[in-house]
Amino acid sequence: MKPLLEFGIFTDAHTASGATMDRDHAGSPVKIRDCLSILNREGIDWTVNLGDLVDRSAAESMGAEARHLEALLPILARFNGRLTHVLGNHDLSGMTKQDFLERIGAPVCQSFFAFDVQSVRCMVLDGNFNADGSDFAPGNQDWANAWMAINELAWLRNELNTARNRPVIVFCHENIEPRTVNNRPDPHVLRNADEIRSLFAAHGNIRAVFQGHYHPGTSVVHDGIPYITMTSMVTGSGPDDNAFGIASVWHDGTISIRGFGRQPDIVLPS
Ligand SMILES: [Fe+2]
Ligand SMILES: [Fe+2]
Repeated sequence: MKPLLEFGIFTDAHTASGATMDRDHAGSPVKIRDCLSILNREGIDWTVNLGDLVDRSAAESMGAEARHLEALLPILARFNGRLTHVLGNHDLSGMTKQDFLERIGAPVCQSFFAFDVQSVRCMVLDGNFNADGSDFAPGNQDWANAWMAINELAWLRNELNTARNRPVIVFCHENIEPRTVNNRPDPHVLRNADEIRSLFAAHGNIRAVFQGHYHPGTSVVHDGIPYITMTSMVTGSGPDDNAFGIASVWHDGTISIRGFGRQPDIVLPS
């Protein structure tokens, strides 16, 4: 049986020069190339990058991110289909949102937006705002204090109302499910995630939320909604340490990930 929807998905390539601890920044272009060529071979015609596509290593100065993005463009262009890019905090450490979206050739220069794929309403969220509602931008961001802006919450409420009765899948770099570390809220989770979860609960037909940002990756069902955090691509130093997947949304509500490299297979609800 064929799924309702099938697409490629990867996150946190952190493309830059050199390496930082377990992050092999310089190896990411090859990993992205390999990922997209396998997805081409599998006949996948839509792939989502969940953010932190570029970065700069300790030895590089601000602005290196834009050069790394320019170098990735010919590799991204090899994909035989549509690429959807979700903004990550590191994408914005050397570029503004508009600069990043223009350079990558986003079809709409908006950081949060919605679109249809067959019968499914897909919503890309932007969790890269400061507490005062300002955009994450070079020199003005704290990854551990990320928020969704009030105007985006209003937009999301309206989108979900409009999409009532239709299946919805959500993409966001930062995390939305409740999670703690050392008995405190995990800083990978948006500070106002509870407001977002309330909107999801009111809609009642959110099939899945796909996330990045938390490099080990994790998956959980909360309030009946599968939250899947993909394993970061940048971790590890060789092509065999790649991580990406093929996501399937099934008619019965099951969500599955066929994992490649370090990305585990996932089936939810299990
Ligand atoms: Fe990251
Ligand atoms: Fe991140």
